[in-house]
Formats: sequence, structure tokens, C-alpha cells
Amino acid sequence: MRLVLYQPDIPQNVGAAIRVAACFGAVLDIVEPSGFPLDAKEIRRVALDYAALAPPTVHASWNEFLRAYSPESRLVLLTTRGEVDLWDFRFRADDTILVGRESAGAPDEVHAAADARLRIPLAEGARALNVAVAAAVALAEARRQLRRPEAAIASR
Ligand SMILES: C[S@@+](CC[C@H](N)C(=O)[O-])C[C@H]1O[C@@H](n2cnc3c(N)ncnc32)[C@H](O)[C@@H]1O
Repeated sequence: MRLVLYQPDIPQNVGAAIRVAACFGAVLDIVEPSGFPLDAKEIRRVALDYAALAPPTVHASWNEFLRAYSPESRLVLLTTRGEVDLWDFRFRADDTILVGRESAGAPDEVHAAADARLRIPLAEGARALNVAVAAAVALAEARRQLRRPEAAIASR
């Protein structure tokens, strides 16, 4: 499982996403530009020491990310404009979950490049989740679907 942050614009969210990726065993990618240095202290304050478990691979641009990206892995975009509910999507272990900017989401070209566009159903009147929270919800759902029965028994 892979998590990609598209042009993150709030350093604390990058820190939270690093921790989320580490805790759910996902590889982390960051697509630049972001509005701050990726060694910012605000990131470290939230990521704690989890960056050692999920050190991000940084791509200078969206096109550079696409060049590095394995075509076998499906690009699964989380978007408030998604046409499929997260709960109805069947994840695969090699899926890549992509999240947009806290301010503006993901642009049309990223929507067009995605193999699937998922929305997390929210309560009436709620607009969007925090980006790191959305990533955590999707990774947790993917892990729930892909869990091995023997692992579930072992954790009881
Ligand atoms: C704060 S939201 C972006 C809000 C932006 N105004 C929009 O509507 O796209 C930041 C990112 O979190 C993810 N996200 C937040 N809530 C979501 C939801 N209900 N369904 C799917 N993705 C969501 C998306 O990846 C989104 O790009």
C-alpha cells in the first residue's frame, strides 16, 4: 500500500500523514511543490520519530511522480468529487492512495489520471475531512479489507 500527498500546504498535516503511513505500514510519497521545507519543525513535531518508519520519497512535480510510478499499481484518488463511495471500493494490496491539498483538493489533471475517484461519505452539512484524517480512514478501510484471517485471530 502506498500513500501520496499531492502538493501538501500545511506542514502539520504532512507530519500527521507520516505517522499515519508508518502506523498502517504504507510507503509515503510527496509531490512538490509544497509551501514549506520538508524538514520544517512543524512536520517533525507532529510526525515524532515515525519518519524513520515511513521516510517520504519526494517528487519535484506531478509529471515526475507519474514517470516514477508503477503502472501496475492503481491510482486511487480520495476526493470530495468522487463518484464511488469508499465503502463500495475493493482495494488491492498494491493500490496507491492519493490525497489532494488541504486548501484546494486535487486539480482536474490529477482526477483524470486516477484509476478510481473515491469519496468518504460524510454527515449532512460537513464539507471535508482533514487530509491526514481522510488518508487514515482510507488506509484503515484498505487494511480491514485486506487483513488475513489468521492475523485477525492472532490479534484477539
Ligand atoms: C480538506 S480536503 C480538500 C477540500 C477541497 N475544498 C475539496 O473539496 O477538494 C483535503 C483532501 O482530503 C481528502 N478528503 C477530505 N475529505 C474527503 C472526503 N469526504 N472524501 C474523499 N476525500 C476527502 C481529499 O484527498 C482532499 O483533496
